[in-house]
Amino acid sequence: MNNIVQISRPRSALLLLLIMISPLASAALVLDPSHGGGAAWELDRCAACHPLRFIHLGDPGVYAIVGQEGYATCYSCHGTNGGEEKPPVCVDCHNSGALPGAPALDGTHSHNFNDTESGLGDDACVACHAASDMDGRFTPEIDLTKLPDANGKLTPSHSITEFCLRCHNRGHQVPGYEIKAESRYDPLVAMEDNYRFIDYHGLRHGSGKRLYYGLRKGYRYAAWVECTDCHAMHGTNNPSLLIDRSGKGVARLEAQFRDKDWPVDISEGNYAQLCVLCHQMKSPVDAADNDTGNGLAGIHRVTGDCRPCHSHGQAIQAGL
Ligand code: HEC
Ligand code: HEC
Ligand code: HEC
Ligand code: HEC
Ligand code: HEC
Ligand code: HEC
Ligand code: HEC
Ligand code: HEC
Repeated sequence: MNNIVQISRPRSALLLLLIMISPLASAALVLDPSHGGGAAWELDRCAACHPLRFIHLGDPGVYAIVGQEGYATCYSCHGTNGGEEKPPVCVDCHNSGALPGAPALDGTHSHNFNDTESGLGDDACVACHAASDMDGRFTPEIDLTKLPDANGKLTPSHSITEFCLRCHNRGHQVPGYEIKAESRYDPLVAMEDNYRFIDYHGLRHGSGKRLYYGLRKGYRYAAWVECTDCHAMHGTNNPSLLIDRSGKGVARLEAQFRDKDWPVDISEGNYAQLCVLCHQMKSPVDAADNDTGNGLAGIHRVTGDCRPCHSHGQAIQAGL
């Protein structure tokens, strides 16, 4: 308690100033025993030293929401400061009221590591984002949980896709998140190999010279596509967690076009409204001007099942 008394003496102005102007030394927000030179470790009355109006001046998003929600939230981002462990709190702030769209949680399916039929809870959030710095910029190395890589080492992920493949593989799944697959070729476990050796959206390159070639601005041939360009982790109404509107994926499309939030409705293996977000024929043939149903056109066969020819791991037909 002495420490707290100390800062209400005249020297406190200087100390406060120090606290105000000091940016976090590292990306890790979680407090450790060096907190306040050691003197502030295990103290729980944050208010005594950190008045709300002087903190987070460098981050308007955090400033606003912490100003509103108060001291009860400190531990959700900065850890317990050596105190008793508490369950994670995420959806108290990350919901459609307080932080709409960050992330978009609407939809009946989500990546909850289980049946995908229900929503995401706090435990699911921290499986993927254990140490987010919440600075308003998504950085895979920081904002995604360190999971064991193919060598069993806890290294940061260099891309979102690489993060997904730490679980979606056959030979080195993450303990606690083992996947039950129907067969060796189920994409749930085959994606690492598909992505490396078979899929055009993965590391293997397409020719860019096919009959129906053509991509919208933002995407190009001989480049790979992130899993989350097509799959939504936080919520969607489509099967296989495919995005249900452009705002939930296709991240590299020109903002002007993507922000129109083109709907994507998928059923019976018809993925036309997804494919047409990125693909648009340069030399229109085969009914290329048929609307896929969401207002966009530019691909062949806008009706029917695409799966016989376009699915993950499909090496013989046109592939995915
Ligand atoms: C006795 C005063 C005191 C108390 C109580 C206190 N802090 Fe601090 N805190 C400090 C000082 C001093 C610094 C260092 C400021 C600097 O480095 O300029 C600091 C730094 C920090 C930092 C920046 C990261 C770091 O490790 O330097 C965070 C975040 C922080 N405090 C959060 C908290 C939270 C959350 C609580 C409540 C659980 C809390 N503090 C309680 C004095 C205190
Ligand atoms: C939503 C996550 C979040 C919550 C909740 C949060 N902080 Fe922070 N805090 C941050 C981030 C991000 C930074 C680093 C960026 C910055 O300097 O503004 C930070 C930095 C700090 C710093 C270092 C200097 C500064 O002012 O930026 C202090 C001190 C601090 N927080 C105290 C607190 C206290 C006390 C609470 C509870 C009232 C709290 N934080 C709640 C995210 C959070
Ligand atoms: C299966 C892993 C996974 C789970 C579970 C998950 N996320 Fe994410 N999250 C990601 C990935 C990957 C990204 C970056 C790509 C994207 O935005 O789709 C992301 C991005 C975000 C972003 C920043 C981008 C945005 O849309 O604003 C926020 C905020 C976020 N997640 C919060 C949460 C919260 C809160 C939960 C729990 C309710 C959660 N996430 C659950 C993987 C996950
Ligand atoms: C006190 C409110 C609050 C709580 C509680 C909170 N967050 Fe955040 N989070 C924010 C704010 C504010 C942002 C920044 C949004 C922005 O500026 O776009 C953010 C951003 C994020 C991001 C995006 C990446 C980044 O660096 O900005 C992720 C991921 C995230 N939070 C995950 C979580 C997880 C996981 C939890 C639970 C352990 C959690 N958040 C708890 C307020 C909160
Ligand atoms: C920590 C391990 C882990 C990570 C990381 C992870 N997943 Fe999963 N994923 C799972 C598990 C477990 C399931 C549920 C499997 C089952 O149905 O038994 C699953 C299911 C899925 C499904 C199937 C959903 C359905 O409708 O059946 C998709 C698609 C998927 N994940 C994509 C991704 C993508 C994309 C990423 C990266 C952004 C990712 N996953 C990251 C473990 C993980
Ligand atoms: C997020 C944007 C995006 C979406 C959505 C998308 N694609 Fe692609 N597609 C690409 C990019 C970029 C390439 C080029 C990859 C390369 O050449 O390495 C490509 C390449 C292909 C190729 C190989 C072309 C060649 O020249 O060999 C086929 C086939 C293909 N996509 C089919 C589909 C189908 C079917 C869908 C819908 C299920 C789809 N794509 C959805 C971006 C996308
Ligand atoms: C009977 C097999 C078959 C079916 C079914 C099929 N496609 Fe294709 N698709 C192909 C072939 C083959 C090509 C490549 C043509 C070439 O090599 O010139 C192709 C090419 C494409 C491309 C262009 C990739 C590029 O950039 O060159 C897209 C996009 C595409 N198909 C979307 C779809 C969608 C959406 C569906 C379902 C609504 C679908 N296809 C159904 C066989 C099929
Ligand atoms: C171009 C869009 C696209 C990209 C990129 C993509 N997927 Fe898919 N994914 C699909 C489509 C379409 C389906 C449904 C057809 C199928 O199962 O092959 C699917 C199905 C799946 C399934 C099976 C889900 C189920 O219902 O059982 C899993 C798992 C999966 N994808 C994981 C991934 C992972 C992991 C990545 C990145 C390594 C990825 N996908 C990249 C479009 C994509």
